[in-house]
Amino acid sequence: MAEDNHKAPTLAGVVGWPVAHSLSPFIHNTWAKRAGVNGYYVPIPVAPDYNDFAVAMDALKTLGFAGVNVTIPHKEHALRYASQASDAARKAGAANMLTFGEKSFADNSDITGFAEAVGARSSAPGKTALVLGAGGAARGIVLALQHLGVKEIAVANRTRAKSEALAKAFGLTVADWEDRGKALEKIDLLVNTTSLGMTGQPPLEIDLAGLKASALVADIVYAPLETPLLKAAKAKGHDTVDGLAMLMHQAVPGFKTWFGADAAVDADLRAVLLEELKRRGGA
Ligand code: ATR
Repeated sequence: MAEDNHKAPTLAGVVGWPVAHSLSPFIHNTWAKRAGVNGYYVPIPVAPDYNDFAVAMDALKTLGFAGVNVTIPHKEHALRYASQASDAARKAGAANMLTFGEKSFADNSDITGFAEAVGARSSAPGKTALVLGAGGAARGIVLALQHLGVKEIAVANRTRAKSEALAKAFGLTVADWEDRGKALEKIDLLVNTTSLGMTGQPPLEIDLAGLKASALVADIVYAPLETPLLKAAKAKGHDTVDGLAMLMHQAVPGFKTWFGADAAVDADLRAVLLEELKRRGGA
């Protein structure tokens, strides 16, 4: 006899291209198990084109998905698709969360995720920061830093025109990419938002000699988890924030919204993710 339990499971997922490498299913399914939630979070590959994205989102909505996280290359598409968006998503020009309902709502928890990962450290973010890179990720990081009250933010990017555009949009100063080591002396926080240091990419070359002992160093790259930048910073005694911390924090709002249960970023969750990275040979 079938049990009288016909309540459909709650469904959510992560949409990207490629998406097989995403750790988000491990995060959400760990929380779901812990909270005894009847639900699943699945990876959903969707080809890069906006039309493919829109068709896929319509289909997920029809299938009853509560919402999805959205990753590269669809973060701008998510904002375009949604009929409503948060201020954070609008300011960032990108969304990593899409909640389905009568109206689709786009939000950006990358910003709060980074702010919480940094804000959780004993060494406060301080007053001045240097952001390396000027792409979509840098935009979100700058908004997070401003949210944390960091007053003076400089940006250095290989392509200067892009750092100038970002500086103009957010009231930042521009530091020279070639002289990035010299821009370290006064800062409280250094953040890498470039892809340098990622597996298969060249390392980020920067001489940390001038960095104050109290400065915090953050890297959004999480493969490998300990990038050459973080390794050098730790060797010099700096407090560091890695890509996994940000990834765990950005997942919290989606889980709470879609599965309606509590989600904690703690050592146990980190251990699950480290185990998975180890299994893949990435950490
Ligand atoms: P994201 O959305 O992740 O920020 P992006 O918009 O493609 O991705 O930005 C990638 C960032 O990494 C850019 O700041 C890029 O610098 P350019 O604007 O000069 O392209 C930076 N980046 C990538 N490869 C780099 C390299 N080899 N040297 C220096 N910077 C690099």
